[in-house]
Amino acid sequence: EKGGYEHYMLKEIHEQPDVLARTLEGRLRPDTGDVDLGGEGWEDSDLANVERVQVVACGTALHAGYIARYMIEGLAGVPVDIDFASEFRYRDPRLVKNTMALAISQSGETADTLAALRLARDLGARPTSICNVVGSTVMRESSATLLTEAGPEIGVASTKAFVAQVVAAYLLALRMGRANGRISREQGREMIEELKRLRARMETVLAPEAVEHIRELADRHRNVKGFFFLGRGINFPIALEGALKLKEISYMHAEGYPAGEMKHGPIALIEPDLTTVVVNSIGGVSEKSRSNIEQVKARGGRVIAVGSDRQSHEIAEEAVVVPESSEWLSPVLNVIPLQLLAYHIADLRGCDIDKPRNLAKSVTVE
Ligand code: M6R
Repeated sequence: EKGGYEHYMLKEIHEQPDVLARTLEGRLRPDTGDVDLGGEGWEDSDLANVERVQVVACGTALHAGYIARYMIEGLAGVPVDIDFASEFRYRDPRLVKNTMALAISQSGETADTLAALRLARDLGARPTSICNVVGSTVMRESSATLLTEAGPEIGVASTKAFVAQVVAAYLLALRMGRANGRISREQGREMIEELKRLRARMETVLAPEAVEHIRELADRHRNVKGFFFLGRGINFPIALEGALKLKEISYMHAEGYPAGEMKHGPIALIEPDLTTVVVNSIGGVSEKSRSNIEQVKARGGRVIAVGSDRQSHEIAEEAVVVPESSEWLSPVLNVIPLQLLAYHIADLRGCDIDKPRNLAKSVTVE
């Protein structure tokens, strides 16, 4: 059932192009430059008057939520707040009228996410979700759910569910922007075209020689003291996700930061025995991240550049080349090498990849 792969995690990483295809299936409407999210509650009348989106989630799903924030604000022009579900539920949050609460959850059973969604609903928000399990509690308690089509995820470290959540967030941003008029039919069509080009690009990142290259990187860096992941803009959450994946399955110390925060403390960690991964694709902030690479190098740190920004590859001593795409979708491509890096480091260190210590697949109690 592992389909010839040594671990579920590796199988699930390789399933991601299919997950993308399934999450898009039947939903694209190129004629109107729009998407059909399936199910009820995603009509123009449900979305056109949304004044604010409040995202609540945990762990990897929260990282997808940060990406959703960039997409919904940048494409649909709607302000987005996001919080750890566990913090939201014990604060005294204030919601403006016409808030759409958006829970993101693979399982749909995470205790904090569910409690946060219920609280937002009690405060007058409309409860909605991006979820992978039909009939889950989060789905039943939402007035609209965008289902991800990742299929059952067995590996405790979430991979394919994350990619499906990010693609779902892009679809939601497109639908909201079409509903409120911020996205034109022509722009909607171009966004759909970009989605259609994504599968082949994902396959490039997963090609045998690309995977082998990452295994070699993993081998060279598997005994360093720790890892530091940096990214900006829509790839800042990918830095968080790269660090989380590595911690979860290899038990190595890893920190994920927005690159601009580096000088506010974490730069003190830089030394030759700490590897810095800078996620940088071509886009509005790539020049800024390039200068972060220079700064790490100037302090004697080793840098691996990951993304489509070629100039970063020239500055860093090691690189993972990722195909160019629209900046909005670059996180989908950039996360894959980081999943593989965590996987191979954990494998080379002899860790129990599918069942990492101290972790449960679904956190249904606090
Ligand atoms: O089922 P959920 O998406 O609500 O789960 C949320 C987190 O518990 C989950 O993403 C966790 O962080 C994973 N182990 C990450 O790999």
